[in-house]
Amino acid sequence: MNIRPRRNRKNSVIRDMIQETQLGVQNLIYPLFLEDGKGVKSEIASLPNQFRWSIDLLIPEIETCIALGIRTFVLFPAVKDELKDATATYSYNHSNFYLHAIRKIKETFPEIVLMSDVALDPYSSDGHDGLVKDGVILNDETLPILSKMSIAQAQAGIDIIGPSDMMDGRVGTIRNDLDAEGYEDVSIMSYTAKYASAFYGPFRDALDSAPKSGDKKTYQMNPANKREALIEAQLDLEEGADMLMVKPATCYLDVIHLLKEACDAPITAYNVSGEYAMIHAAAQKGWLDYESSFVEMLMSIRRAGADGILTYFAKDFAQLNR
Ligand code: PBG
Repeated sequence: MNIRPRRNRKNSVIRDMIQETQLGVQNLIYPLFLEDGKGVKSEIASLPNQFRWSIDLLIPEIETCIALGIRTFVLFPAVKDELKDATATYSYNHSNFYLHAIRKIKETFPEIVLMSDVALDPYSSDGHDGLVKDGVILNDETLPILSKMSIAQAQAGIDIIGPSDMMDGRVGTIRNDLDAEGYEDVSIMSYTAKYASAFYGPFRDALDSAPKSGDKKTYQMNPANKREALIEAQLDLEEGADMLMVKPATCYLDVIHLLKEACDAPITAYNVSGEYAMIHAAAQKGWLDYESSFVEMLMSIRRAGADGILTYFAKDFAQLNR
């Protein structure tokens, strides 16, 4: 045998030297859930160790994460039912606790990068990402609302807008309207290939944001489709997206790889709530080792081509790597 691949694995120095994929805390974006009020830290049943925070307790939590090396966060609001309506007006209301929290976080920690969520579902009495009329999700009528929401978030100081709604043309509309208001430095990380996935269940529990009727299949992508992601990617880039996201991550590694090969823009992936919940459930039963499983999962997403990863594992990863 002239060729023995095992020689390149014989000790950790060699293995580390030739490791092809690196994963560091700088690649990770940590999702945080916010609710209105004071003194709130309530654990989300289907997302062990993830909480809905009120802003007073979230600030010290972010400080802890910064000390661990996490620099980028994405914030999601849990809105009370009485504030939800058919046109999601609370999303851009100036008394909105989410907008206040963005301002507070950016004032307290100007050095971090804060990303938002733009979609109607947390604020909509229908629980859909767009306006609903007679059971149909309206596209063009939704766009001005997404724009108002984005401008309100930009005014509050957000660094990156994250449109997660999958309406056609929203990146271009948001980009134009942000620029017209003087927010040309606010970035857009588009949820480019967002699939109609079963793995969002725990997130919808966290925000109580599940659709009241129907499903999201007329706007989120069919899990069976890959080439269609190229159409979405091309549109988002033409419309002015700075980064393209694939979501979920691990069942869609081929899509991450495809977009990484096809596009010059940075590619990110959302390691979603269901992926986190699966590993936790198996680890609780003693069927998987928690730490090595989640690190392997994150590594596979990087190996597929993701530059950044939105993941609930961010804090545990940062703690492991101290
Ligand atoms: C809503 C949104 C969802 C997620 C992020 N933004 C859920 C959905 O589309 O129903 C899911 C994230 C996760 O599961 O961790 N627009």
